[in-house]
Amino acid sequence: MATHARQGPCGDLASRLFATRKLTLDLAAPLSDADATIQPFPDASPAKWHLAHTSWFFETFVLRDHVPGYGAFDERYAFLFNSYYEAEGPRHARPRRGMLSRPSLDEVRAYRAYVDEALERALPQLPPAALDLIELGINHEQQHQELFLTDILATFAESPLEPAYGALPLPQCFAAEPLSWHPGREGIVEIGAPDGGFAFDSERPRHRVFLSRHEVANRRVTNGEWRDFIDAGGYRTPTLWLSEGWDWVQREQVAAPLYWRDGGTEFTLAGRRAIDWAAPVAHVSYYEADAFARWAGARLPTEAEWEDFASSADPSLGNQVDEAGPVLPRPGGGVFGDVWEWTQSAFASYPGFAPAAGAVGEYNGKFMSGQFVLKGASCATPRGHSRASYRNFFPPSARWQFTGLRLARDA
Ligand SMILES: [Fe+2]
Repeated sequence: MATHARQGPCGDLASRLFATRKLTLDLAAPLSDADATIQPFPDASPAKWHLAHTSWFFETFVLRDHVPGYGAFDERYAFLFNSYYEAEGPRHARPRRGMLSRPSLDEVRAYRAYVDEALERALPQLPPAALDLIELGINHEQQHQELFLTDILATFAESPLEPAYGALPLPQCFAAEPLSWHPGREGIVEIGAPDGGFAFDSERPRHRVFLSRHEVANRRVTNGEWRDFIDAGGYRTPTLWLSEGWDWVQREQVAAPLYWRDGGTEFTLAGRRAIDWAAPVAHVSYYEADAFARWAGARLPTEAEWEDFASSADPSLGNQVDEAGPVLPRPGGGVFGDVWEWTQSAFASYPGFAPAAGAVGEYNGKFMSGQFVLKGASCATPRGHSRASYRNFFPPSARWQFTGLRLARDA
């Protein structure tokens, strides 16, 4: 497989492309074929599917559309590994991705190698539009690397044997930093990605918004504070909850973050271990984050408040992914890394939003319904992937991602 950087104008792009492709393979290295085949629930995908789908993305939008004479590795894979692109035709039903014992993990690895070799041959001749799609494909694959880790966590959490994906050092018993409040800017500010450089279409255009007087917490809510919320009856107090959230708590019998277990332990990618009470709480839904904030006499920040707060922070810092292996939120982080932070803002289009041209125009815009924006980056986000304008989004009941919160309040 090609892993070396090319020289020339697309050298950096090629080097990032093949480093990204290699990281995905490395993430899958500890898995058996059976591990990689399980789909723990319909919103998650098998590890094997992530490996194949990210290759289908390059094969379809770069190789098929921009390389004359390219022959697909297997014509049937388009049906299996198209995720949600209506313009690309019918596809295998999402909830049934875990039913595919074939192709095997090794066959999917061979598919990846075939696509990588074709990309390496094609790169020097690709037109600028195709190079833009390579950039999009890199960022797309990074998103799937995060999903790969959270889906494997969900998969292993299903097993009473509590398998570990890898080993992590034990918690170091740090004390949580005292909570303090940072005055936010009041008045008209700009948010969104500026022109130039890569950003997803949903981050643009950069535009003006008005911020009222407010304050933002210096750090994320910790596991210890979440324990206090539980002990105070937070999950049993309907007045703290949105109506839909209270229905969800009752229906799903939710009483703690997703992977908390008995005796002050939690299930992690390193197996079951003691909860680090100073670490940011993770795997909570929007409903839970909103209820906690109300209990704490605060609220969730708006997306614009968060983005302005984070505008001077370095998105490349913090607990994010540098290499394959298990990940876990840690105490003492800054703005980026550890956990994505729920905002109270709906994932909706910015004024002047225009979806990308072609089939990739289905990437973000069609999901602008019933989802909330999360900002920052998590311990499962590849470093270099996020930025202040980044708009992650999930439905309000989702909690298998590394999702936490930072409080805000009116001032
Ligand atoms: Fe995808």
